[in-house]
Amino acid sequence: MPANVGGTTGNKCPSLFVGTGLFFGGFMEEKPKIISELEETRDKALASLSQVNDEEALQNWRRDYLGKASQVMLTFASLGQQPKDMRALLGQTANQVKQALEVALEEHTQRVKQTALLHKVQSEQVDVTLPGRAPVQGGLHPQTQVMRRIFAIFAEMGFQVYRTPDVESDLYNFELLNIPAYHPARDMWDTFHVEGEGVVLRTHTSPGQIHAMRQNAPKPVRVILPGMCYRYEQISARSEIQFNQVEVIAVGKNITFGDMKGTLNGFVRRLFNADVRTRLRPSYFPFTEPSAEMDVECFVCAGKGCSVCKSSGWLEILGCGMIHPAVLENGGYDPRVFSGFAAGMGPERISMLLHKIEDIRYFWGNDVRFLGQF
Ligand code: DAH
Repeated sequence: MPANVGGTTGNKCPSLFVGTGLFFGGFMEEKPKIISELEETRDKALASLSQVNDEEALQNWRRDYLGKASQVMLTFASLGQQPKDMRALLGQTANQVKQALEVALEEHTQRVKQTALLHKVQSEQVDVTLPGRAPVQGGLHPQTQVMRRIFAIFAEMGFQVYRTPDVESDLYNFELLNIPAYHPARDMWDTFHVEGEGVVLRTHTSPGQIHAMRQNAPKPVRVILPGMCYRYEQISARSEIQFNQVEVIAVGKNITFGDMKGTLNGFVRRLFNADVRTRLRPSYFPFTEPSAEMDVECFVCAGKGCSVCKSSGWLEILGCGMIHPAVLENGGYDPRVFSGFAAGMGPERISMLLHKIEDIRYFWGNDVRFLGQF
């Protein structure tokens, strides 16, 4: 920016005064040194202002040329000590210099602001040709999905969902299910004991059977009992310390092993596919008599034998049986009049079979790379 302010034209005509030397009563005298110094400083200031291009430099410039210790301001302060005949001229000159500097500063400040704004606008330009960003979407946990499928299938067969607590007493988790203290069957469930006498984290959903029966007896009951179970186990690809189970019970008059088989077959065929083959193998559980385990034909190899079914052609998917008379009685039913069946399954295991997942730890490991696949 050319220093063209206050009626001067910068270096080419540095004087504030038109016709140098005409100011002392028309005599051609040398201009007083203090005045030419002021003018020199003004020209220097105006020249340096054109190099200023940010807020901070503007502040510094103002401090140097218009601040308390600047030459113009010191000139004002010293007016009283100047010879009387100089004061008017000096004051006038200082005023003109000050005004010239102020005007130039104001103008230049606007320019700097404009430039900064322009840069900002240009750098923040929206590039409408950029591809959009996909919004992050949540989803249902794979176990929530499987559980809901299981609920829906049993709902079609007339079973309601009944929820019971995760924290149980030893009585409900074991005793009332025909598993007395010191019974060797207790070794089937490595238990987390909670502070307080006989308080445990349920090791299976079976204690829910007693809650459901006690609340309904002597009316018939047909419910499923889903929920988290806990076992004090070494965590590995095949076993977790927490996992879901879904318990199934039906109690009424004339309920038979055939009803159990039909119900469970109906369930398995809806869950896997309509013509999957199943088989029941004899087994042992303290709360059922007789007890069995249900296998489905391996849907990976169609029964031929593969790594998933360990060459057997069959996949074990649940435990079941006719509710033991002692358990019916603990639930408030007369075992001479009532009978019932029960079953228990692990939805994580079912997911693993359905999706060929090889490590149960993925389910509760909270890794979105795994969870996002479902
Ligand atoms: N509660 C058993 C377990 O955790 C599973 C089970 C087996 C449940 C047979 C049942 C049943 O209701 O009839 O291993």
